[in-house]
Amino acid sequence: MPDGLVVVGGSYAAVQIAASARERGFDGPIRLVGEEEEPPYQRPPLSKGFLTGKTTAAMLPLRAEAFYRNAAIDLVLGTRVTAVDRIDRVVTMADGRHLRYDRLALALGARPRPLPVPGAGLDGVLALRTLADAERLRAVAAQAGEVVVVGGGFIGLEVASALVGPGRAVTVVEAQDRLLARALPPAVSEFLAGVHRARGVRLALRTGVRSIDGTGGRVRSVTLDDGRTLGADLVVVGIGAVPNAEIAQACGLPCDDGILVDRFATTADPAIVAAGDCTRHPNVHAGRPLRLESVQNALDQARAAAGSAMGTPTPHDAVPWFWSDQYEVKLQMAGLSQGADRSALRGSADQGRFSLFHFRDGRLIAVDSVNRPADHMAARRLLAAGRPLTAEQAADESIDLKLLIGS
Ligand code: APR
Repeated sequence: MPDGLVVVGGSYAAVQIAASARERGFDGPIRLVGEEEEPPYQRPPLSKGFLTGKTTAAMLPLRAEAFYRNAAIDLVLGTRVTAVDRIDRVVTMADGRHLRYDRLALALGARPRPLPVPGAGLDGVLALRTLADAERLRAVAAQAGEVVVVGGGFIGLEVASALVGPGRAVTVVEAQDRLLARALPPAVSEFLAGVHRARGVRLALRTGVRSIDGTGGRVRSVTLDDGRTLGADLVVVGIGAVPNAEIAQACGLPCDDGILVDRFATTADPAIVAAGDCTRHPNVHAGRPLRLESVQNALDQARAAAGSAMGTPTPHDAVPWFWSDQYEVKLQMAGLSQGADRSALRGSADQGRFSLFHFRDGRLIAVDSVNRPADHMAARRLLAAGRPLTAEQAADESIDLKLLIGS
């Protein structure tokens, strides 16, 4: 493969595809083209420790510079790929340069969904995805007394927990009737709502934003659908993510809210694999096609993509898992709870440490844990091994879950 592997993207999936290709013994050229200026970095801390100051920019790189040098992975940064020619196997970059490929990997990620209301373009209305976004947000927050967060999902709640404090009021505006409805069952949403309220975050549920208003180009207030007006010198929008699938679509690869890939992370073109937030794959655990936004999915799917690109079709069927940190609450989710017909509680919500085990047709499908990391680890292993577990066993704290994995 004289033209080697070209990876488009600059985050978790992109780096893992390149690394896994080398681990599999690929010795041709590997070029990783990313539109951000910085070498690939960790994103989860951007909505958590980076905003509170606990995590500094120096702590963020995904891999040390020596890693890329030693693995002969050529980083082409600050450059956007604008087109893919699948016939001649060439990608075109915004600066007019071309790169030929034998195998192409698309790890294009996702971008924040824009809030479609008047005033969303005012200064002080920010989204959060990149390091540059987080630096801007931190700088504006330092001067802000009134913050409105639009969206009570992962980004919104993590930002609220990082920013609320003396001298800074935070209101979270959520269109649904509860927080994190996309990912969590009502009992966990209620628990989290209680935690946020106890910290002084105001929650405006069941309402969206009608308009954002400002003076001199700067945000001053937010008007909600229910007519209320909230003062704001910072608005953070976290209403979901949109997959960056445009260049795939433009070169004729089938897309549907994400680039469509098979179980082996291969697109409709056998020379092109794809992984991470930009893809939709047939998920064995859900029994239907899914687009997953998580570090774990990006890494596991990338390993499969690298194998498939190197001629060893490798299935991507890892158990999905996710996490979120809000204040002292460590939320960990294993499996996919949609479609559960029964749940069992282990531990106590009153004490702030509990797990909900979700079952469908008597089979364990997911576990949501709050400050119970051992339950989460056991859940991942139980789900991966397909070990039987009853709701009664899950609820019985005298049963050591680790022993069930081994049995
Ligand atoms: N007004 C208010 N709330 C809204 C609106 C709106 N117009 N539109 C959507 N929402 C709410 C949704 O109901 C949901 O609760 O915004 C929330 C978005 O939550 P997520 O889907 O979790 O998306 P977000 O928080 O933006 O995170 C995007 O980034 O870090 C990753 O893992 C994270 O995958 C997630 C992604």
